[in-house]
Amino acid sequence: MRKPIIAGNWKMFKTRDEALYFILKVSEKMPEKEKVDTIIFAQAPLLRCLITRQGEELRIGAQNLHYEDEGAYTGEVSGPLLNSYNVEYVLIGHSERRQYFHESDEDVNKKIKAAIRNDLLPIVCVGENLDERENNQMNDVLERQIKGAFKDIPAIEMKDIVIAYEPIWAIGTGKTATADQADQACGFIRSIIKDLYGPVVAEGIRIQYGGSVKPTNIDELISKENIDGALIGGASLDPDHFITLANAPLNLK
Ligand code: 13P
Repeated sequence: MRKPIIAGNWKMFKTRDEALYFILKVSEKMPEKEKVDTIIFAQAPLLRCLITRQGEELRIGAQNLHYEDEGAYTGEVSGPLLNSYNVEYVLIGHSERRQYFHESDEDVNKKIKAAIRNDLLPIVCVGENLDERENNQMNDVLERQIKGAFKDIPAIEMKDIVIAYEPIWAIGTGKTATADQADQACGFIRSIIKDLYGPVVAEGIRIQYGGSVKPTNIDELISKENIDGALIGGASLDPDHFITLANAPLNLK
């Protein structure tokens, strides 16, 4: 049994006061951490004040880290700094980082290694764009992204890694992949992990779906065999929606 993992990615939204109001509102209403892992990924300057108020059940994660531990990289955030704030999770390779900041599969690989080195748990994002899906290149793209991301990462590290399948055409567009499409892609990702690491790692690794997930569609998505949770953008900004989303796995039969 894989423990469900529900995460909100706030992207570049919320000021300090807005973020504190949210945490105050949701922290008592999160599911028990023995049953569901819940995380909010916030902008870097918010991490410190949110972590001190996160409560028992909610974790606060970073949206990015640099692949070097220190150096002349103005504006970047290092793994050792995140670790020193007790940040547990870090998002790596989100499609917006790949698209707007030109992160390559090689960068993603180096960032995963930096996260492991600094005791951070990575959620590694992959997903195809609309052209790639329409031209039947989805599997090739996912295979390239997964093999690139996990190059030289030993099997022992894979048990703590989470993968988020986020088709780019479904992000922020209101177009959700159908539950079957999402399950099929997550199943394909699991099969690549099986080729790379064998059945035990493949059965244990958690794979989330992301892309226009909301309170009205989460139940069907997470009921699928290969979908172990959700990575939510827009709908995670609203505290009431996030409370519903985080508790959705408790309704699973
Ligand atoms: P939306 O839920 O707004 O489509 O965003 C998905 C996403 O990019 C989460 O990382």
